[in-house]
Amino acid sequence: MAKIGILTGGGDCPGLNPVIRAVVRKAHLEGYDVIGIKNGWKGLVENDTIELNLDSVSGILPKGGTILGTSRTNPYKKEGDLQKVKDNFKKIGLDALVAVGGEDTLGVASRLTKDGITNIVGVPKTIDNDLSATDYTFGFDTALNIATECIDRLHSTAESHHRVIVAEIMGRHAGWIALEAGIAGGADVILIPEIPINIEEVCEIIKKRHSRGKTFSIVAVAEGAHFAKSELVTQEQKLDAFGHVRLGGIGETLGEEIEKRTGFETRVSVLGHIQRGGSPTAFDRVLGTRFGVKAVELVKNKKFGRMVALSGVKIIDVALEEAVKALKTVDMELYEVAKVFFG
Ligand code: F6P
Repeated sequence: MAKIGILTGGGDCPGLNPVIRAVVRKAHLEGYDVIGIKNGWKGLVENDTIELNLDSVSGILPKGGTILGTSRTNPYKKEGDLQKVKDNFKKIGLDALVAVGGEDTLGVASRLTKDGITNIVGVPKTIDNDLSATDYTFGFDTALNIATECIDRLHSTAESHHRVIVAEIMGRHAGWIALEAGIAGGADVILIPEIPINIEEVCEIIKKRHSRGKTFSIVAVAEGAHFAKSELVTQEQKLDAFGHVRLGGIGETLGEEIEKRTGFETRVSVLGHIQRGGSPTAFDRVLGTRFGVKAVELVKNKKFGRMVALSGVKIIDVALEEAVKALKTVDMELYEVAKVFFG
């Protein structure tokens, strides 16, 4: 019987388990065996696998995270790892691999395809929603809803205490979560990585708002946002296997500046990994399920080097290469809509 492998790599997100379930269920119908590769590319380097059958995916649909585990391992980083991936692919007897991930995991998948190493189909995930060639990645909707609820909660405490509260929201290169949660939650200022922060402007907006009688404000800032002419605020400078620093801290820096410049008492709330945990929304469960089914169809039709994607309301497939070529940053028309409600 032909064998399909599946791995989940990079930051986890709600919706991964629905994809795994869908791949196993559809593969079963098509007569394939499915092998789960543990912890992303690390599992292929170390030959760490688990057989997946109907029982192993029973009950996982509403569960957050990934039953396969994940890692940020890059097999192109350490000498010898790529050969191990090639050898283990053969040893496990895989005919095809479904790689579920974001820019980094799918970047590796695209390279492996180009290098003619394996038969791969990609499935796009990331809460950041920053992958090109798909309208949405799963995980985003759940993170967006969590961040929106957090902004709602911050509103009531900010209002009671007459404070400014800065909400630091995930989003490394793209501000989709901050922007949409900011719009949905009614934030008074939204700051994203795509537009350098102009602190004078931010403080003016807040002061103007307070001068019309408001005694509280909510500022939504993406963790990847930065002041004009200054570096990203990071927790540490060490780079991971894909060359990323660990972000975090812009909220605190921004909060201090706002309090100093406006005189309004300011607090900071870092939403962090709360945004990535827990049960996927119905939207993410459905999207993950559709992606998983389509991924097996691509394997069946030997359409390798492709990625499943959402285009409008349809599930399509696109070249993996297209998907990882450039990041999908925020739509400036949407930012203009958000600005109507600043202040
Ligand atoms: O890529 C998704 C993401 O959640 C980013 O928004 C964030 O910068 C990063 O992952 C955090 O990574 P980690 O969980 O490794 O700290």
